[in-house]
Amino acid sequence: MCGIFGYVGEGASFSSLIGGLSKLEYRGYDSCGVAAIDNQKLFLKKRAGKIQKLKEGLGEKMNKKTSLCILHTRWATHGRPNKINAHPHLDSQRKVALVHNGIIENFLPLKNQLIKEGYKFLTETDTEVIVCLIEKFYKKSLEDAVLKAIAKLKGSFALGVISLDQPDRVIAVRKDSPLIIGLSKEGNFLASDVPALLSFTKKAIYLKDQELAILEKERVKVFNFQKKAVKVKVEEIKVKAEEAEKKGYEHFMLKEIFEQPAVLRKILFLYCKGKNVHFSSFKLRDEYLKKVKKIFITACGTAYHAGYVAKYFLEKYCGVVVEIDTSSEFRYRKIKLGKEDLLLAISQSGETADTLAAVREAKKCGVKVLSICNVVGSSLVKESDAIISTLAGPEIGVASTKAYIAQVFCLYLFSLHLAKLKNTIKDRKIQEILSGLKKTPHYLQEILNDSRKIKRTANKFSRFGSFLFLGRGINYPSALEGALKLKEISYIPAEGYPAGEMKHGPIALIDEYRAVVCIAPRDQLYEKMVANMQEVKARKGKILTILNNDDREASTLSRQILYMPKVTNQDLSPFLVAVNLQLFAYFVAKNRGCEIDQPRNLAKSVTVE
Ligand code: F6R
Repeated sequence: MCGIFGYVGEGASFSSLIGGLSKLEYRGYDSCGVAAIDNQKLFLKKRAGKIQKLKEGLGEKMNKKTSLCILHTRWATHGRPNKINAHPHLDSQRKVALVHNGIIENFLPLKNQLIKEGYKFLTETDTEVIVCLIEKFYKKSLEDAVLKAIAKLKGSFALGVISLDQPDRVIAVRKDSPLIIGLSKEGNFLASDVPALLSFTKKAIYLKDQELAILEKERVKVFNFQKKAVKVKVEEIKVKAEEAEKKGYEHFMLKEIFEQPAVLRKILFLYCKGKNVHFSSFKLRDEYLKKVKKIFITACGTAYHAGYVAKYFLEKYCGVVVEIDTSSEFRYRKIKLGKEDLLLAISQSGETADTLAAVREAKKCGVKVLSICNVVGSSLVKESDAIISTLAGPEIGVASTKAYIAQVFCLYLFSLHLAKLKNTIKDRKIQEILSGLKKTPHYLQEILNDSRKIKRTANKFSRFGSFLFLGRGINYPSALEGALKLKEISYIPAEGYPAGEMKHGPIALIDEYRAVVCIAPRDQLYEKMVANMQEVKARKGKILTILNNDDREASTLSRQILYMPKVTNQDLSPFLVAVNLQLFAYFVAKNRGCEIDQPRNLAKSVTVE
């Protein structure tokens, strides 16, 4: 959370640099700021609120150029999201400015000690201790002061630091928070994520953990925390600038929902050659995979729901036991993972702090880690034994949509790959499932083509004050995901439940004011779902059902209906349900005038625990 950006070079306009920062706004958007050094003067501007406010605050200055600058967009952890707590933070001499992404766990004892030594604190943030420590240790060299300061810190931090005394450099530091260096002839950049760099350069150094970089106009030097120079790899950024644009859609979320058929086609094209599933640069040996008996899945939020869907088909097709846990729980469970186990870590960003910590914990037992990840240069990918890239392209909308569909799809293909190796299902069955998967982009397109109908339904339901989402079997996680999408962008309380659990409590919630979304594909649990719908109807709950085109029975119980095409393999229904529920949540939120791409209190990349 929080986005940091920085520049040193011949001169770039504030407006272009703020443009770079706004590509990081998905990481946090409660306050922001910029510090620049030009003509031996330090300039600082901070604002509570979104980057638009900062632009307004800069006014005429937007067209001026700067040669040294750090910028920040914040998601508050310590201290309210106001102007004073916004970054950059300055030392007491107003010579050093610093931006930070992460959390300093021991900031309180450090702060108390610094206060005793006479330092004065202006903000409620954990970050201010870092700039105080730098001030304390600063003699001649900014990088030495930074190294001494960070030696005192516990926690995670990506930093950008500049000083009036050395106005030719930005110091960048990475520990457990992502940081990338962008290289160009006109100057060098630092950024929390690739989209911020796209309009400036395609050349990047992905800083490794516990590295410090000195960025100057014409060169970048990288060191470890012992100040030993390290060799760096300059990589080509493969993402195209237009992939991170809205392309005429009103919101990124809508654009990303509509991109889903194309994402699945790309996955099929790259991983499904002819009759086989083939993952390029897949480093897990067949001999090992054949022996895997138990799979653990760890992930957060939407990625966790993707893993939950996958649990059903991995168990069904591969004859393995699958355990799934949210990373924030998994990391503290003392599970002994063995040599015949496999850990699947699922993450869009590959930077989620809990998922990274879960992976690190698990690796202590020597278990192999396969990550299903959308960001190839991410920490998760670097720390895993093997990766399946989900190929969804940059996901900017805070509510995850195309990444979810891509995760489930890739996991589906992986389950077929594993089933083939383990010989747990016949080749003919694999071909049958594959041919269903190949039709999925087309089915999704059918639903998208009918988005107006979903919009009308959403408008009718948007006045409800709370929702219950019910599903069974493989669509129980679809219910969880449907509820999550709705609550995160419309702020309507929504709960996902396995329909069979209704009588064990949630049925007490049903009355004429409750909207109940029932997921009822024609699968082996259909009759049971219909029985649950009867129970809801008898208690006057207002039912919205997602059902197959030709379904009559469930439709008679429903106040409104969302359709999904009839498919032969109902294990594919989670894709069709997901698109319906994503659009439903989107239109409800739009109808209620919510900030869809940047919902309150959220940030895209949760890089703190
Ligand atoms: C919800 C959402 C979050 C993320 C979660 C994990 O729409 O986006 O719940 O799924 O924060 O993020 P990643 O996948 O980046 O690990």
